[in-house]
Amino acid sequence: MRPHPRTLIRRDYCLATRERLDRLCFAGEPPPRWADAVWWVARRPDGFPVAFAGLRRRGFVWELVRAGVAPEARGEGLQLRLIRTREAFVARAGGGLVTTYTAAHGLASANNLIRAGYRLYRPRSAWGLAGSLYFSRRVGR
Ligand SMILES: CC(C)(COP(=O)(O)OP(=O)(O)OC[C@H]1O[C@@H](n2cnc3c(N)ncnc32)[C@H](O)[C@@H]1OP(=O)(O)O)[C@@H](O)C(=O)NCCC(=O)NCCS
Repeated sequence: MRPHPRTLIRRDYCLATRERLDRLCFAGEPPPRWADAVWWVARRPDGFPVAFAGLRRRGFVWELVRAGVAPEARGEGLQLRLIRTREAFVARAGGGLVTTYTAAHGLASANNLIRAGYRLYRPRSAWGLAGSLYFSRRVGR
């Protein structure tokens, strides 16, 4: 992993930026427009956006949603940084259970969740695609 030290992650509400990155990372899927999601974008020092990720709250449970890193910025550890950034937000909001899921073939995402301390669990009712792996971790309390 070769981190790019000056790539900054910030909260970001620019719909056009996020949807452009979303289309680049999730080819063929329409970008989601959740009204309740909070979004972050990682930008190079010149402002060029290279990664994004979202967070949603469902009652006492938080969900990490839709992390994507542009091909030219992959392998720099940005997905892990985006996980930690969203967890810091959850901790500041009082903490709680953070959940997410990955496709069964999403090994890079699963490994980053494991690096961040997540554990696999079996949800009572699955909401991802068939065969998804569900992860959770308690943050801040
Ligand atoms: C999955 C994804 C978010 C990972 O982001 P990332 O910030 O590159 O993650 P990492 O830096 O940990 O790199 C992931 C792996 O790719 C490898 N990698 C290195 N350079 C790479 C490159 N140029 N291109 C692709 N992968 C590369 C890394 O070595 C790492 O492997 P490791 O875990 O064995 O060390 C990113 O590949 C992506 O956006 N994919 C498409 C969308 C997607 O699947 N999102 C996740 C939905 S849950």
